[in-house]
Amino acid sequence: MSGTTNPTDPLQNAAQKAIIDAVIKQYAKLPGATMVVLNTLQEKIGYLTKPMQEYIAKSLGVPISKIHGVVSFYSFFTTEPRGKHLVKFCIGTACYVGGAPQLIDKAKQVLGIEPGQTTPDGLVTLEVCRCVGACSAAPVIVIDEVNHGRMQPQRFANVIKDVIQVEAPV
Ligand code: FES
Repeated sequence: MSGTTNPTDPLQNAAQKAIIDAVIKQYAKLPGATMVVLNTLQEKIGYLTKPMQEYIAKSLGVPISKIHGVVSFYSFFTTEPRGKHLVKFCIGTACYVGGAPQLIDKAKQVLGIEPGQTTPDGLVTLEVCRCVGACSAAPVIVIDEVNHGRMQPQRFANVIKDVIQVEAPV
């Protein structure tokens, strides 16, 4: 529901609200302001919650359906904060056929979350993506923008454990 108060919503945080207002003010008069505002806020805040989308719609005088439409169409927009590390599974044809579903199963087993979710410690977010242009190395996963090809479930488990271990307190 749109009226719920969420302490983690950027609109409830004075510093972040100031950023949101400044960005809206800066671009409101531009043609195509919606996309520019959404892009800039995704970059600066890191995600676009439902209340933020409603606030942007109201401030720019555009229908909320338009904002929702744009945010849900482009995968680089997110409605929740991403984890510190982003792990994407390519589910383009070559990777899908090459074993992406098995990698996703392994990820669920190791991390206990599904694509689209973040581990409770905020360390890892899982997502799926389209072909990343490295089909000859299928199946490919992308960890923090770096491609890892010919991935296998057991190797994936080790790679992800390494990522998590680097973060563990010494
Ligand atoms: S289908 Fe995965 S890199 Fe092309």
